[in-house]
Amino acid sequence: MLRAVAGIRRDPIAFLTRVTDRHGDVVAFPVPGPPALLLNDPEDVTRVLRTASRSWTKDTRQWAALTEVVGPGLLASDQPAWITRRRAAAPAFHHERLQALGADVAAAADDAIATHLGADDPRVAAGETVDVAALTHRIGLDVVGRLLFSQDLSGHARSVLRASSAGSDAIVRYGQSMVPLPRWVPTPAHLRLRGARRRLTATTATIIDERRAATDARGGPSYGEDLLGLLLDAGLTDSEVGDELATMVVAGHETVAAALTWTLMLLAEHPEVQEQVATEVAALPGPPPLIGGAQALPWTRAAIDEALRLYPPAWVLSRRAREPVTLAGREFGAGTLVIISPYVLQRRPQHWPDPLRFDPSRFLGRSTRHPAYVPFGDGPRLCIGRELALGEMVVVLARLLSRFRVEVPPGWVRPPYEIGAAIHPRGGMPLVLRERVG
Ligand code: HEM
Repeated sequence: MLRAVAGIRRDPIAFLTRVTDRHGDVVAFPVPGPPALLLNDPEDVTRVLRTASRSWTKDTRQWAALTEVVGPGLLASDQPAWITRRRAAAPAFHHERLQALGADVAAAADDAIATHLGADDPRVAAGETVDVAALTHRIGLDVVGRLLFSQDLSGHARSVLRASSAGSDAIVRYGQSMVPLPRWVPTPAHLRLRGARRRLTATTATIIDERRAATDARGGPSYGEDLLGLLLDAGLTDSEVGDELATMVVAGHETVAAALTWTLMLLAEHPEVQEQVATEVAALPGPPPLIGGAQALPWTRAAIDEALRLYPPAWVLSRRAREPVTLAGREFGAGTLVIISPYVLQRRPQHWPDPLRFDPSRFLGRSTRHPAYVPFGDGPRLCIGRELALGEMVVVLARLLSRFRVEVPPGWVRPPYEIGAAIHPRGGMPLVLRERVG
């Protein structure tokens, strides 16, 4: 038991991988109280995720910790609040709205590249490494701000980025503590969580106040068609709207940034795939589309799908049973905790031949519907930002790779992963960006 606790604290992903290798489809952890299971059987995983809003709750430490930072927003809430919020937010993610925003995403990517790399960045000219993780974070934040709140978040970028990274860090530590102390005890993890919450709340309150003032000045009647406007028009209170904005910022920028960073690393390690991507991007007659990227740029999209298989930013999901459940042919009582790790599941040799190999052709021209592939979850709680995220990644990759070739520096060793709200490289991702000529 003590060895398990130490293993979880040191590296939860390695721990989950080890116990899966040893025990297979269902791992039952020897913990006091209701059963705690790690599910690795795709059928069980699908069943849990598809009945998520009826038979399962998000009453787990993972989601409690997130709630401490972003409040009870869409991601961490349960029925009945969840459905009201999902319906209020959904129109902001409809295809037609997203399609119309393709040019905005391309502009956000171009701006972030220009800001972060400068016009003639000496590091690029000298072939020095650039931290592409920092670049993708700025792009992720820019895009979320523009698309969901029609806001340039750059003025708030520092506070949002600091709050969200402090929050991620605190969430991980909190989730790893075996004996959770009451929240009022001022442990370092609790204090970090509270600090992150305070910063995010102050930022979202400013954004909401600015929108209310601008709408009043114009004489209304609607707060606008973006997510912020939809939520205010739906009559949510300022504090509820604030929780949604904080949720979207944290859920929407770290995940996309991490996925883009790992995709760039894998493309740098596989120049032959990168050239396929660059060639199709160069041949595209117009700007890259936000929706329909799989048809217009199949290699680009397949590279992203494959990177999401190897490095799914949301590396763990958890649920608690509302009622008795049958899993792997066995009965478990209400209150059973279920852990699903897309990272572990998507690297299992039982479901993916040569699982550690980066091979976008697995997805080329194919649907991503695979029983052991859940980077965005499944069922009613499927990621609301899935289409936006995939479209954004296609557009950003297209913009970056039309301008630069990405290379690994001499003596390359992959940076180890670190877990936060998303799985990301520890200490950044130093890659060489070379300006393409001609
Ligand atoms: C839900 C992953 C991008 C907002 C989820 C879930 C996953 C996920 C796995 C399901 C969680 C569960 O079942 O417990 C990802 C990944 C992304 C991404 C890998 C990028 C590569 C985004 C973006 C946004 C977003 C761009 C918004 C701007 C949300 C929200 C939910 C969610 C609000 C909760 C949906 C609900 O429960 O109804 N995401 N996400 N995500 N995601 Fe994403």
